[in-house]
Amino acid sequence: MATIQWFPGHMAKAIRQLEENLHVVDIVFELVDARIPQSSRNPEIERIIKEKPHLVIMTKSDLADPEQTKNWIKKFKAQGLPAIAVDSKANITTKTVTRISQSILAEKLDNEHQKGLKERPIRAITVGIPNVGKSTLLNRLVNKRAAQVGDRPGVTKGQQWLRSSSKLQLLDTPGILWPKFDDEETGQALALTGAIKDQRFASDDVALYALKFFRQYYPEELQKRYKLTEDDFELSDVDLLLKLTKQFGMKDDYERASDRLILDIRKGKLGRYTLNRTDGVADE
Ligand code: G4P
Repeated sequence: MATIQWFPGHMAKAIRQLEENLHVVDIVFELVDARIPQSSRNPEIERIIKEKPHLVIMTKSDLADPEQTKNWIKKFKAQGLPAIAVDSKANITTKTVTRISQSILAEKLDNEHQKGLKERPIRAITVGIPNVGKSTLLNRLVNKRAAQVGDRPGVTKGQQWLRSSSKLQLLDTPGILWPKFDDEETGQALALTGAIKDQRFASDDVALYALKFFRQYYPEELQKRYKLTEDDFELSDVDLLLKLTKQFGMKDDYERASDRLILDIRKGKLGRYTLNRTDGVADE
């Protein structure tokens, strides 16, 4: 999906659309990138969805540090937010998501049952920033053969309920939120993972951020990938980038070398990583 340039008008429209859709769903699946569970969240989400039940789905967990993912799930739970981690390209199952949604909505469904209302599928919407994996997850959860349930009251014209299972339906149009990056580190984390495309950030800044980060948290991966010596670890981040530039055969074109380093990291060539560390996030 292309990166969206967010202007105030776009944001207002996206929020309005999401607010309308919230009326017709039971639960919101908020997607966050497991490598940047904090930076990929829109801080306005709680205000926008209000009391609507809410499941955090950490996508791309296959690329994230498993230990950190576990900690993040605990952290979300401590904030009263149920959370699961998925690899939408491989192992996410409709059963798991349905079961968790049912347990989050147990009271509501129970009440309906007590009132003698007919059993009905849970209705959900996926929301998240561009590139977080909304379409991939939707495709994974939806049984394509029997995808469309048809028009139903409450759904804006042109939208459809998609059948995931007999117990779960998803709105075909995900809610799009914008990433918020008014601090430099959040912007760099978004750029490094590819959540926002690079033109808004100088790639050498992002590469320097990456080098500093990997030296601190994953030095062995860095060492292994680029065959670094102990002396290399004594260099400043800038000098290390220049050294890598030469090593890549790019003379002094450190911007090209930065792009290469960023691409390696995005593709997981330096292993699994989580940029937003749970140790740096206060419990709420
Ligand atoms: P969006 O609708 O929220 O915008 O995101 P979309 O599903 O299009 O996914 C964005 C990229 O993330 C896609 O890569 C998709 O394959 C990848 N992706 C989504 N979920 C997962 C996951 O759980 N694990 C992994 N490893 N990748 C995931 P792409 O098509 O290659 O696009 P790009 O990399 O060129 O952006």
